[in-house]
Amino acid sequence: MRLIVTEHYNDMSSAAARIIASQVILKPDSVLGLATGSTPIGIYEQLAGWYQKGELDFSKVTTVNLDEYYGLAPDNEQSYHYFMMKHFFSRVNLPKGRQFLPDGTNPDAGRECERYQNLIGLLGGIDVQLLGLGHNGHIGFNEPADAFVKDVHLVELTKQTIEANRRFFERVEDVPRKAYTMGIGTIFQAKKILLVVSGAEKAGILRQVMYGAICPQVPGTILQLHSDVTVVADREAAGF
Ligand code: F6R
Repeated sequence: MRLIVTEHYNDMSSAAARIIASQVILKPDSVLGLATGSTPIGIYEQLAGWYQKGELDFSKVTTVNLDEYYGLAPDNEQSYHYFMMKHFFSRVNLPKGRQFLPDGTNPDAGRECERYQNLIGLLGGIDVQLLGLGHNGHIGFNEPADAFVKDVHLVELTKQTIEANRRFFERVEDVPRKAYTMGIGTIFQAKKILLVVSGAEKAGILRQVMYGAICPQVPGTILQLHSDVTVVADREAAGF
């Protein structure tokens, strides 16, 4: 694992955005694995800014997102479809037909997981996978468990994740209890992984992810086994 430490959140966002931009410049038809949550917002801001200045072109790029809440339609403001549209897709020239997320409205979990897993395979795999880190060490929505799950699956969110995500919802009862997520094997197929972490409250879990024992109870620890992981963390998150 390579660790890049930046001063603040904004520098973290620029450093991570530079890695994604280099990928797109070197390989214009890249497949980018994307994440939602608070941490990557600055990255999308920076990438959209470079596109608007004419410095980046997403016309040949394909994107696949890590996860989506079960039961939420794309026009639901809390859905990850909506998040991606707001923060990134509506601001760059990425073709609509090449923006992929799990379909939260498909109640048939078996079919949806198979469809999304196959789709990623058909795209030829992911060039760079962007990841945030949950307070409990989750990556995507691979929650702490007794075993790692390999493929795309439907997951029951933990109490801690529901609590952490309630800030985006009016009431805690509104936070969906389940989500579709790429599995650990799906994430591991990515050629490169870019993990972004910000803030003092993530310092403990980041230390565990980078240096702790590899175990499914702290899912991010598995990243120690991938051959090309770059962690970009601000000083507060890397302050261990
Ligand atoms: C989001 C995702 C999650 C988040 C994680 C951190 O697509 O898969 O794993 O990356 O929950 O979220 P923030 O950045 O809001 O702290």
